[in-house]
Amino acid sequence: MRLIPKTILLAFAGLLCALQACSPYTDAPIRSGEIWPDDRGEHINAHGGGILVHDGTFYWFGEHKGERSSSAFVGVTCYSSKDLVNWKYEGVALSVSDDPESDITRGCTLERPKVIYNKKTGKFVMWFHLELRGRGYSAARAAVAVSDNVTGPYTYIGSGRVNPGIPAENVTDEDLAYVDALEQPLKSWTPEWLEAINRGMYYKRDFEGGQMSRDMTLYVDDDGKAYHIYAAEENLTLNIAELSDDYLSHSGRYIRVAPAGHNEAPAIFKRNGTYWMITSGCTGWDPNAARMFSAPSIWGPWTQHPNPCRGEKSEITYGGQSTFILPVPGKKDLYIFMADIWRPRHPIDARYIWLPIRFEEDGTPYIEWLDEWNIKDN
Ligand code: GAL
Repeated sequence: MRLIPKTILLAFAGLLCALQACSPYTDAPIRSGEIWPDDRGEHINAHGGGILVHDGTFYWFGEHKGERSSSAFVGVTCYSSKDLVNWKYEGVALSVSDDPESDITRGCTLERPKVIYNKKTGKFVMWFHLELRGRGYSAARAAVAVSDNVTGPYTYIGSGRVNPGIPAENVTDEDLAYVDALEQPLKSWTPEWLEAINRGMYYKRDFEGGQMSRDMTLYVDDDGKAYHIYAAEENLTLNIAELSDDYLSHSGRYIRVAPAGHNEAPAIFKRNGTYWMITSGCTGWDPNAARMFSAPSIWGPWTQHPNPCRGEKSEITYGGQSTFILPVPGKKDLYIFMADIWRPRHPIDARYIWLPIRFEEDGTPYIEWLDEWNIKDN
């Protein structure tokens, strides 16, 4: 028998150790629905959020919520972590403004912030859903801010409806002719009305001023192209819109997804070349059943699947609403489904659900409740 030289064995053992020591993940439990203290011992206040992985650190951005109001009196908070369990408070990344004329004046509604990094410009770009103070949810704007530093401060750039005067790529001439021929007004929620929405009644209504943009997420693909995915058309239709190369505006390319499907809270990931999107229905702060879609390309076609959640309370997403899906670096096939358990009467006490997404043999994702689990063993 030929012996493996001792030096090679030692080098191999060293490499294994190094690899293990490198892994930041531990068996510290993740317990959805409980209080999650930060490094100061305070429950993490970053709701409707998302996570950016940058230089080996996780940055969690989310809505700061107060004791009584869901409006924005502080802004977007940021926390950092190496292991996804221990979170350091990094402060307010984007502050609301003291200027009453500002779009983001204190008391506005600032929801579902997401941050992405632009390799070409070296800038961190934040998009969020903005509603102007005192105007309920009527503004339905997408807003953007930018920073040279990941944790901020972010500088507010502007907000608006999306892609004014620009046609969606998957609206057909037949759809437009159908909408043009409608004898208005149709009674809401009738089959005729839903069909009219499906064919673009609200898309057309909003065409000149730009599409509405409420619940949203961002996605950066492998080729560096970034996408803004948002609830348009009074939350009845999702849009997927490509961002410009600097991520600070829209490129003008976009599609309508699940028209008249009434989806919000989009969260997206890609696995083995298939794009998966999990959304919720539209019942405000109350939880409902999650929905799931897949597509071979970000540009579709998007196909709907059954609710990915299983088991008890799966019909209400275990009490939560999707916000983000994180592929965990260094963990093959670990994608974390992240959701918010809203507490509209005590918003600061809203909780988080993080669960590992499981996959059927054919690759279809599903989610099961776990009282606790850890990153290391998943
Ligand atoms: C939810 C939405 C939240 C927030 C809330 C307000 O449907 O997902 O982000 O806008 O409505 O009622």
